[in-house]
Amino acid sequence: MALILGIESSCDETAASVTKDGRTVLSNVIYSQIKLHEVYGGVVPEIASRKHLDKIIYVIEEALKEADVKKEELDGIAVTYNPGLVGALLVGVSAAKALAYSLNKPLIPVNHIGGHIAANYIAYPNLEPPFVCLVASGGHSHILHIKDYHDFTVLGATTDDAAGEAFDKAARVLGLGYPGGPKLNALAKEGNPEAIKFPRPHNGFDFSFSGLKTAVINYVHTLEQKGEEINKADVAASFQQAAVDVLVKNTVEAAKSVGIDKIAIAGGVAANSCLRENMEKEAKKNSMEFFCPPMDLCTDNGAMISCAGYLNYIKGIEGDLTLNAIPQLGDLHV
Ligand code: KG4
Ligand code: ZN
Repeated sequence: MALILGIESSCDETAASVTKDGRTVLSNVIYSQIKLHEVYGGVVPEIASRKHLDKIIYVIEEALKEADVKKEELDGIAVTYNPGLVGALLVGVSAAKALAYSLNKPLIPVNHIGGHIAANYIAYPNLEPPFVCLVASGGHSHILHIKDYHDFTVLGATTDDAAGEAFDKAARVLGLGYPGGPKLNALAKEGNPEAIKFPRPHNGFDFSFSGLKTAVINYVHTLEQKGEEINKADVAASFQQAAVDVLVKNTVEAAKSVGIDKIAIAGGVAANSCLRENMEKEAKKNSMEFFCPPMDLCTDNGAMISCAGYLNYIKGIEGDLTLNAIPQLGDLHV
């Protein structure tokens, strides 16, 4: 049995979790900074770093307490080291290094995207590769062929903005505030997804969300200039449907292209109800199995990092005290 502490601080959630054998969550503590950043309409990196510093010890202690695990009983300390906001990442990495050094336990570096994928292993303890996974978050949108736990191929990716970024910008132009994705999702439930024909740009299995984002901004600004009333719910629903259509179509087609009949979704945008419903429907239509973590495991959390950390641990992937925070995507496999 292996008990892994997972630490996450790449953006605006300070989180820690203890999992057992990478599949059973013993605790999952999240301190969300949403309230702090709300007034600025987005994440302010310096404020995020300072708040992580404030909360990191607290979430780690809470995670151990809730799991009823003493730190001496841990088998390893896993931490997100890339990608993310560098100052924010550094807080988690430094805490993990200090713990690993003082306890003389393995320090396990985890790629945040690999963490998002791993949320599926927690939600579905029997899930094993191969499968195709759509990872859509605030900073990244990828369709990955997960051939094995540490062997991924990129089948499609965004050529510009990430899906979550497009949701956040569309929400902002509609005056919905931060965080935009969930607010737009809620408003879209009251709107007509066919009211406005927004573009669905893609090139093969790649996406382009910048064009869709601009189309929404132009639509809203044009009506504002003409002094016409904007049906915000219709704009939200039509934008969301356009984004979801591309994500679903590309993922299913990409899976078909590699002969895979298992589709998973991950990342903050995977919490979107329209994406979850549409992907499930399309998977069913194509006789594919569909995997979708609960919403609290889609958005940033420590459990997914602990689970991915366990996979690295059993493969012998370890860091040392030179481990640094890396803002860029880097190696997806670690
Ligand atoms: O994975 P995540 O929590 O953090 C990153 O790694 O980026 O993803 C955050 C992104 C944000 O852009 C947020 O607006 C989006 O996920 N998001 C959603 C929903 N919940 C979160 N987008 C659409 N619908 C949602 N329900
Ligand atoms: Zn994330």
